[in-house]
Amino acid sequence: MTTVDYQGATAESIRHHYDVSNDFYALWLDASLTYTCALWGEGDTLEDAQRRKLDYLIEGARATGARRVLDVGCGWGSLLNRLVGEHAVGQAVGLTLSDSQAELLRARELPRTEVRVENWLDHEPDEKYDAIISIGAFEHFARTGLSRTERVAAYREFFARCRSWLPKGGRIALQTNIKGNNVLMDKQAVRDLMFIIETIFPESEIPALSEVIEGSEKLFDIVTVRNDPDHYSRTCQEWLDRLRANRDRAVECAGELNVANYERYLGATVGHFRNRHLGLSRLILEAV
Ligand SMILES: C[S@@+](CC[C@H](N)C(=O)[O-])C[C@H]1O[C@@H](n2cnc3c(N)ncnc32)[C@H](O)[C@@H]1O
Repeated sequence: MTTVDYQGATAESIRHHYDVSNDFYALWLDASLTYTCALWGEGDTLEDAQRRKLDYLIEGARATGARRVLDVGCGWGSLLNRLVGEHAVGQAVGLTLSDSQAELLRARELPRTEVRVENWLDHEPDEKYDAIISIGAFEHFARTGLSRTERVAAYREFFARCRSWLPKGGRIALQTNIKGNNVLMDKQAVRDLMFIIETIFPESEIPALSEVIEGSEKLFDIVTVRNDPDHYSRTCQEWLDRLRANRDRAVECAGELNVANYERYLGATVGHFRNRHLGLSRLILEAV
């Protein structure tokens, strides 16, 4: 495998976001601490909709009963927990760049689970995986300011690594925010997105769906793609409502400025998914 420079957000930038405080995130995420768009069904609570999303991606990747499954960007471990707890996976491996996520996750002592603070670019598994799932991490794999060609090359590197870790026919289930390329942004939208890039997610850039697909060509076939922006709008609204309901404790955990920034970011994001400045892709890909 050729080695390329890593083009994604640095570990330092990732920690800037995810190491704010575990207690802070616990105040407004659902009980499983899933920090990505849910998949809403009729009558769902946020907890139900997060489980529905995890199961959709697990089934899409054909990970139920699998021997080994990799979670790239495992967060606080909701997918790992579901894989070993409900889907009879033999061994689940999770990668994160955040020390506080790994610390919390290791303290849970999930069975048959390995948590590594490791960039996927440095991951060298001893054995292949049967399936790979990555939820809400791809947005960090190309840093702000790269050209389209450079972004596609960065994504291709990710897919090439995944391909080398899977057998032919093995699947990736990938969920990522995407740019909503079909709607022009007004000045407020540009200001909001600049604020999010500069203050909330430094060094990260959301891909266009076509870039994701181009990066995977000749390595993976597309099985399904769905775009669910309304599901993310609703998820962000739930998070914002919970954050506001727990505002005083949030300020104690993370400080007034952080809380105000998160209120602005979540509020803006509700609108940007609703008006299609942003999209939410869930892709199932199969190794060729
Ligand atoms: C938005 S969180 C999503 C966490 C989890 N998948 C979920 O649904 O709750 C993004 C995760 O990706 C991880 N991440 C970002 N870039 C990464 C990289 N290059 N290698 C490994 N993990 C990465 C972060 O550390 C974080 O755990």
